[in-house]
Amino acid sequence: MGINPLMWKWFLFLSFGFKGVFPLRNVQVTIPKAVKVYDTVTLLCKYDLEGEQLYSVKWYKGNKEFFRYIPKEMPSMLVFPIPGINVDLSKSNANEVVLRDVQREVTGLYRCEVSTDMPNFYTMIVSSYMYVVDIPSENPILHIQREFVEGNYLVRANCSAPPSFPAMNITWYINGLKVNENGRKIINLSPIQTFPMDKRRLRMTVSYVSKEINENVFQGGVIKVQCVSTLFHLYKSEDVRYIDDDRPKPWPSSVIGFNGISAGSSFFVQYICWIVIIGVFMLR
Ligand SMILES: *[C@@H]1O[C@H](CO)[C@@H](O)[C@H](O)[C@H]1NC(C)=O
Ligand SMILES: *[C@@H]1O[C@H](CO)[C@@H](O)[C@H](O)[C@H]1NC(C)=O
Repeated sequence: MGINPLMWKWFLFLSFGFKGVFPLRNVQVTIPKAVKVYDTVTLLCKYDLEGEQLYSVKWYKGNKEFFRYIPKEMPSMLVFPIPGINVDLSKSNANEVVLRDVQREVTGLYRCEVSTDMPNFYTMIVSSYMYVVDIPSENPILHIQREFVEGNYLVRANCSAPPSFPAMNITWYINGLKVNENGRKIINLSPIQTFPMDKRRLRMTVSYVSKEINENVFQGGVIKVQCVSTLFHLYKSEDVRYIDDDRPKPWPSSVIGFNGISAGSSFFVQYICWIVIIGVFMLR
């Protein structure tokens, strides 16, 4: 017995309900990756129904539905309360939901589910993650240590970004050039009091750099070490230290006549070299 296409579709509908397996093309969400606490946020959901009738657009945060648009029903828009989510109905419609005054706990996965009407009931879900972040008022803190090793400086630095959720990114620059970090640590701080059960604890990034610096790097006798911490596009702050080139100055090259030895050598080593050079001349 052959199965006619309509029966087949009904079979699928009955088996899978609204989570039908037929693709509804081009469902796309535009959701900001990160926004600030108390911002007004627009979540966009665009779709191409390809001639089908729209049955519903539903928005979920995680598994919880918070907004539904069904053009055939009265009222066509419904809001289901979720703590921290404040839907502005006057600005929401079939393609967008506007959230006012977003709170930290609004951080999460957002899903838009679009379904077409009878007879096909195609359904498609698209999702995207949004962070709602508190912008710290503090700046990163840079610590620097330097040692004088074999004519070069060894600079060791660490930089602590202000606590945030999620943890910040840190970028290093020496004289304006990007330098890779040697290591990084993310420290979990104690839970925020208002959300004791919240897994999203504040985190602090500490980044480490260790770099040998020779005379080529000194520009005008100074090195600029910069630590820049960022939280998405919402926060950017830096701490800067300058290192002066206060290594012992080599003898003037006109006296030594031998740049390779003089550069970066201590006075004593240069003195010995000088004696040896004179000695070699005298022995000839
Ligand atoms: C950073 O460096 C300073 C000075 O060298 C040191 O006292 C401090 O403990 C370091 N901090 C971290 C988090 O490693
Ligand atoms: C850190 O940088 C990565 C790579 O550029 C980026 O994807 C991520 O969103 C950044 N995270 C933060 C908190 O800024």
